[in-house]
Amino acid sequence: MAPNRAKNPPGASGTKRFAEALEKRYEFERLLTSIATRFINIDIARLDDGINEALRAIGEFAEVDAVFLLTINQDHEKYSSTYGWASGRHVTDRKRHQNMSLDRFPWFFEELERNNLVNIPRLSMYPPDALQTQEEMQHAGLRSLVAVPVRDQGRMDAVVGLASIDDRDEWPEDVIVLMRLMGEIFFNVIKRKQTNEALASSEARFRALVQHSSDMIGVLDGKGVIRFASPAVSAILGFANNEIVGRLAFDLVHPEDVQRLLGIFFGAIQKPGVVVNAEYRVRRKDGTYVYFESVGANHLDDPNVKGFVLNSRDVTARHAAEAALRETEKMRTVGQLAAGVAHNINNALTAILGYVQVLNRDAGNEEKVRDALKVIETTAKGAAATVRRIQTFARERAGVGSAAVDLNDLARDAIEMTRPTWDARPQERAIKLRLELCARPLLIVASASEIREVLINLVLNAAEAMPGGGVLMLATCADGANAWARVHDTGEGIPAEAREKIFEPFFTTKGESGMGLGLAISRSVAKRHGGDLFIENDGPGGVTFALKLPQEDASQSISSP
Ligand SMILES: Nc1ncnc2c1ncn2[C@@H]1O[C@H](COP(=O)(O)OP(=O)(O)OP(=O)(O)O)[C@@H](O)[C@H]1O
Ligand SMILES: [Mg+2]
Repeated sequence: MAPNRAKNPPGASGTKRFAEALEKRYEFERLLTSIATRFINIDIARLDDGINEALRAIGEFAEVDAVFLLTINQDHEKYSSTYGWASGRHVTDRKRHQNMSLDRFPWFFEELERNNLVNIPRLSMYPPDALQTQEEMQHAGLRSLVAVPVRDQGRMDAVVGLASIDDRDEWPEDVIVLMRLMGEIFFNVIKRKQTNEALASSEARFRALVQHSSDMIGVLDGKGVIRFASPAVSAILGFANNEIVGRLAFDLVHPEDVQRLLGIFFGAIQKPGVVVNAEYRVRRKDGTYVYFESVGANHLDDPNVKGFVLNSRDVTARHAAEAALRETEKMRTVGQLAAGVAHNINNALTAILGYVQVLNRDAGNEEKVRDALKVIETTAKGAAATVRRIQTFARERAGVGSAAVDLNDLARDAIEMTRPTWDARPQERAIKLRLELCARPLLIVASASEIREVLINLVLNAAEAMPGGGVLMLATCADGANAWARVHDTGEGIPAEAREKIFEPFFTTKGESGMGLGLAISRSVAKRHGGDLFIENDGPGGVTFALKLPQEDASQSISSP
């Protein structure tokens, strides 16, 4: 029923008509205000009811039989009758108008697009090219029709229309204004609803992702209380979800990590949008700890989140692997260190034993005894220095135990200390020594025992490279910034396949009799002293190793021996 209809009976007097018109005017204002205020703050959940209710009020005010709101899709190809109201005198079939092509009523939509208004007070007034529209109206039992477009940014997004089963003289201006206004209001709230729905569906998608993700997602409030934890969190920690949610996150953190995390957290919640990361231990239900690597983002200010979002990974396995690796590294270092000590002490013992033999042989020769004892003393002191270095870990720190020494002295020492191993050979395998030392002192700041060891290693290698005898040359010289020591032999040279590897620890071609440490240790000593050790010449004529060390006062040195 359309109750307003009764207010406007035919044949009323002029005055009465005027009073009625005025009353109508008030009613219009009231309607407009009530609808407008209702929609300003409408709860989206109640939107559909609200619109249908408003359509009814419009329909009753305008005394029509159908009110409809058509929305036009994004591609601007289809329309749907989204909302509608019908008086008791007419039954609408909205299913006929869902997701239909605009081409179905070309005149109707083109007219709206162009003229902004479709105004057909009487069935007889349809123009010839409005055939489809007219047929549709007749099919629905409707005769007069008025419709206005709702435009947004220049394009038509919706249509509001009224229709009546009676012919009319004309559609009042009021009604058209009302339709335009209502169209705007409805369309805005519909849009809001669509945005909300899109948001909700993306939220649902997000939720589904989170629920099934193996990544752990947690949301904390500004006090650090867990407000949300994805299933992966409970799975990894062994808690039920409700045992975690509502709890203070820091309660689950390892006591040693809490302080640091509190600092990061309370720092981060001061800064909206900030992203921080941390690695820490989290207690599982069984009391064991797992390592978490988390990225936290402060979304406390974001009305859609209102939380501090944590994205965490369980990195316990990585930590275990790293710890194991560190352990192996340590063992390797210890092993290398031990082997290095053994190597140096072995060299020292070889020298000492050699001189003990000299002492036994030449016990009566006071001068030889004194010389031998001197070498034994130096060698033993050198070995003792090696042990001390290990004890104090001075190896790690360059410069410790360093003093200004003459490289020439160290070269002489190295020759004397190794002499028993190469000088006592039978004539046919004899090694001839050529010592070509720089005429003036070559001062370097170094650990004397370490540099001596380097030279000993090089001399021993040279001697070992000439099992059939040859010439061993040890030369020193200076060039500007550096002091040089060169050890040359006339052996076979280094096999091509070994050349790349000879400086690696434990690489040896000498089987049981070599440890493969001499060059590795020597190079690291040289580097620690700011110098280097490398092969300068290698071939059938033999090998030359060059040891380069920075001179103490390069500016005062004169080049070459
Ligand atoms: N002068 C040289 N001539 C030829 N090959 C050499 C020479 N010096 C070193 N090499 C090669 O380099 C390898 C590594 O030498 P390195 O001094 O590091 O170990 P090593 O002499 O085998 O054993 P050790 O630890 O007892 O010194 C040797 O095994 C050898 O093959
Ligand atoms: Mg060696």
